Formats: sequence, C-alpha cells, structure tokens
Amino acid sequence: MTWLITGGAGYIGAHVVHAMAEAGERTVVYDDLSSGIPDRVPDGVPLVVGSVLDGERVARALTDHEVTGVVHLAAKKQVAESVERPLHYYRENVEGLRALLEAVTATGSASSFVFSSSAAVYGTPSTGAGLVTEDTPCLPMSPYGETKLAGEWMVRATGRATGLSTASLRYFNVAGAARPELADTGVSNLVPMVFEKLTANEPPRVFGDDYPTPDGTCVRDYIHVVDLAEAHVAAARALRAAPGRDLTLNIGRGEGVSVRGMIDRINALTGHDLAPTVAPRRPGDPANVVASADRAAAELGWKARHGVDDMITSAWAGWRRLHPGA
Ligand code: WQD
Repeated sequence: MTWLITGGAGYIGAHVVHAMAEAGERTVVYDDLSSGIPDRVPDGVPLVVGSVLDGERVARALTDHEVTGVVHLAAKKQVAESVERPLHYYRENVEGLRALLEAVTATGSASSFVFSSSAAVYGTPSTGAGLVTEDTPCLPMSPYGETKLAGEWMVRATGRATGLSTASLRYFNVAGAARPELADTGVSNLVPMVFEKLTANEPPRVFGDDYPTPDGTCVRDYIHVVDLAEAHVAAARALRAAPGRDLTLNIGRGEGVSVRGMIDRINALTGHDLAPTVAPRRPGDPANVVASADRAAAELGWKARHGVDDMITSAWAGWRRLHPGA
C-alpha cells in the first residue's frame, strides 16, 4: 500500500508525510515545488516533481509507484490572493483536482482518496457563537473557500461514480510544527504575522475589536499541525479498511481562542510584552469559527492532543531558526 501525497513538500504536506512514515505507511511525494521545500521530504521517500495539472505525469507516478491511495494537499491557500486572482485559484485548486481525479480513475490504481478541504467552506457560519458542525450550511466568502467546496463536490461525486473511498478534511486554523525545520515559512496567518511584528519590535495588530465576542476580537479554532497530520493518517487507514466510504470531517480542537488571547500567549511564551494596536476590521472575517470535532472522533477515533501553547512554542522555535535575531 503506497500513498501518493500531493503537496508533500509543503508545510502541512511534509507533516503528513512524516506522520505516515511514523505510522509505517509507505509514501511517495508529488509536488511542483512552487512553494514546497525538497529538504522537508524524508530520506527514503521518493519525490516526483510535477504539477497535478500534468495528468500524464501524475498517471505515470501512480503506476510507477503502484499507488493505492492518494492524499491531496497540493493547492493554493491564501484567501486574499484568491480574491485578486480567482481564475488562478480555480485552475490550480479545481482543475488541478479534476486532472488528478481523472488520472486516479483512469489508472484504477487507488481505492482511497483523502482531500484537503478547509473551514473556509463555511464562510460566516450560521452557528454564531456555537460550534460549527459538518452539517452547518456552507456559504464560502472567498474564491479560495469556493474552490474547496467545489473540490468536496467533485471528490464525493467521483467516489459515488467509481467506488473510490473518500474523505474531505475541513482544516480549521493550523499552527505549530513537529520540529523547527518543518515550520511554516509563510507569513499569511495570525501566529507568524504576530511573530513578524514582535521581531521588528513593533506592536502586533488586531484587525477589529468590535465583534460580538467576549473580548471583541475574532475567535478561531487553532489546531496543531501534528494533530492535523495524525488525522490524515487516521482517515487514510479508515478508508483503506472500509471501501466506498464518503466522509466529510471537521479537523479542529473544538475550543475557541480570541485574537487578543492568542497575542497575549504569544507575548508571554516568546518573552515579549508588546501590547497590540487595534486596526480596522479585515473584510470577510467571521467573528467566530470553532469546530465541533465530534464526527472525527466517532468516525476516526481521532482527537487533537496539543494545546495553543504547544503550537506557539513550536512555531516560535521554527521562526527563530529562520530569524536568528528574533
Ligand atoms: C485569524 C484571525 C484575523 C493577523 C484563514 C483561511 C482558512 C485557513 C486559515 C486555509 C482573523 C486575525 C490576523 C493579524 C489579526 N487557511 N488577525 N492580526 O482568516 O481565520 O483563516 O487561514 O485553509 O481557510 O480562511 O486565519 O490567521 O488569517 O486570521 O487580528 O496580524 O486573526 O483578522 O480574525 P483565518 P488568519
């Protein structure tokens, strides 16, 4: 049983590859290295450099490596960029997924398909301050979120048509690192954006403090990337064990933390004391997005094990590796 991990040289993808290896699963990485880093791929794991849009190259990788399962993480994931470049996101995330599914069904090699989806499919959840379940209506507010919802539809329809066993995993807010060299190198989410400000000895920014939440700042469900990776291993194994499954699962901790709460912890855990300034709201930010993770527990026996302090300290160790003066 070999798993093709698309995007396996990326921040989350590399954690999935390492978790699969630790679980004794054989993998091959398929990555176009547009943002992936080859050194993240462990020794002994083959790396095929290519785009999922290149159906022939994907099909060759599937057959050459006798792939029987796919974990698809290769995608563009920046919300703001998706608003500026919607067609780029639809091509990479939707057409790329279609081409990959085409290759998988044409070669008939894989029986299981795990798809990287996102909490962005919910947009502003109708659950208000409550927990978001997988049955909460999906009203994405960005082209990025739209591509992930369309991806779920495509994966589900292909599974129903071909018997492919599928799981769409809706990631909430991912942070942390298993080890410094696997840390996220991007600066497009709260934790690294605060690190960047603190490293420059500038106050972090809070994008709006007039939301209907306990302290007025947005509340999110932060999930350690190690827990997220382990959810992929659990999902892959569940699909292999029961062909024809069709799972859609929230991958979160089920606990909300506010922006101000995260900034306070980041200051404390990194030895800083820079009070944030309040900036205008960021368009499209929902006030509260916190997962109910009950279905993942019931279907996979998976539950997050790490808290935000682990996420912050491990992310900070990765940040300092790339910013020695921090
Ligand atoms: C979190 C909160 C900001 C920086 C997005 C995607 C989602 C997923 C995670 C891929 C928001 C606030 C941030 C700062 C701040 N990605 N903030 N000051 O927007 O919840 O989710 O990334 O799947 O799909 O939608 O994450 O980290 O950008 O922001 O106040 O300097 O922190 O306004 O409320 P977000 P984020």
